[in-house]
Amino acid sequence: MPKVTAYGQTFECDRGSNLRQVLLEQGIPLYNGKASIINCHGLGTCGTCAVQVEGEVSEPNWRDRARRSLPPHKPSKNLRLACQTQVLGDVRVTKFDGMWGQGDRRVWEPDKPTN
Ligand code: FES
Repeated sequence: MPKVTAYGQTFECDRGSNLRQVLLEQGIPLYNGKASIINCHGLGTCGTCAVQVEGEVSEPNWRDRARRSLPPHKPSKNLRLACQTQVLGDVRVTKFDGMWGQGDRRVWEPDKPTN
């Protein structure tokens, strides 16, 4: 089973699991600030579940690409929408600051819950 490392925790999930769901099930703060309340619950429209992912995941789908092409996201940035991403192998996840996770400062890293 794939291993997910995020927020100083490592846990397993089924191959093909939705990254947003597995992070939330583990109690990992996927959303920054008010985005924990104001988000699209995985529809791929709000863009606040953006994270940086290293490892084997699904290719970005059109919802992921479309939302990340709009401000405050920049398509050139190496992020993914967790709600539109399936875990296919071991992955390491990092969250950046800003309501959409679009910032440059790391809020948490794979091996560290805080910075
Ligand atoms: S939860 Fe809104 S885009 Fe992922």
